Amino acid sequence: MEMAVEATAPGKAILFGEHSVVYRGPAIVIAIDKRARIVAESREDSRIYFDALDLGFSGYFEGTRYFPVRGKSWHGKRLRAILVTAHRTMEHIGVHTGLDIKVRSEIPVASGLGSSAAIFVSTAAAIGEVLGANLSLEEICNLALEGEKVVHGTPSGVDNSISTYGGALRYERDLGFDKIEPLGTFYFVLGNSKRRRSTKRLVLRVRSLYERHPKIIERVIETIAKTSDMGLDAMKKGDLPYLGELMNINHGLLAAIGVSITKLDSMVHASRVAGAYGAKLTGAGGGGCIIALTDSTHIDWINNAIRKCGGEPFPVNISKEGVKTRRIER
Ligand code: MEV
Repeated sequence: MEMAVEATAPGKAILFGEHSVVYRGPAIVIAIDKRARIVAESREDSRIYFDALDLGFSGYFEGTRYFPVRGKSWHGKRLRAILVTAHRTMEHIGVHTGLDIKVRSEIPVASGLGSSAAIFVSTAAAIGEVLGANLSLEEICNLALEGEKVVHGTPSGVDNSISTYGGALRYERDLGFDKIEPLGTFYFVLGNSKRRRSTKRLVLRVRSLYERHPKIIERVIETIAKTSDMGLDAMKKGDLPYLGELMNINHGLLAAIGVSITKLDSMVHASRVAGAYGAKLTGAGGGGCIIALTDSTHIDWINNAIRKCGGEPFPVNISKEGVKTRRIER
């Protein structure tokens, strides 16, 4: 019987420490209940065929050359990082085969919610299962980082880690992650500015600001790292007002390193006025999303406030579940 494997993995939202984590100190990050999904099965030939029809295209690679079936040749560029993840996974296992890979996602693309990492994590997990390799979570996480490198240049590793393990994590470059057990229930509303942006470009922009004003930016990065540590404490104690205040401070610091934009600032301020404990941009900035921390009674107010700013609100909870695979018999 033909066998396909479905793998899903969650997107993420960073509560503290985006950008600073590229240099030093921790990021505090949660998995959200929006997931990417990959369905993979092996082929008789050596082609790697992608169906990304939700994004409007499909096509296949022979070696590294892309042949579009639906859409244009340049769409191949958007698949290259998934291709690299697929190749690295097969190299790691030591088996090479052609593959059919279907890509689906509920996570808005290029919006700071880790959609690419969730796709790479699901890709590595699905191919591992198709090839019967029984990959560990650590192996899946490391293979997904190879895709992240293609998209982001110098990723800290935070996105692929949270997508692999789920829940809430304290992540620090070179040290890895610790699971966090937050106390109580946390309600968040994300506000999507619907402006796409490139994480790679924003990380480079911060680097160039750092090089021009090292003494100042060094201090800002250190202060962001401090908010991450204090935010972690507040999460463990379930102290929501304090956590919210720290998120507000973190937003100000991100604005100082030049990664906020007017629309993000408006959504952040409107959410606070609508009753959020705190709000900040989340992810690389320059567009993408904000995240507001709230209690259950203010969700509708915050949704409306974000909509009035022209953003798209969606309430999320912390998703305990990291990457998951299941076999589909055809
Ligand atoms: C992107 O989700 C977070 C950044 O800190 C980049 C990274 O950590 O690789 C901006």
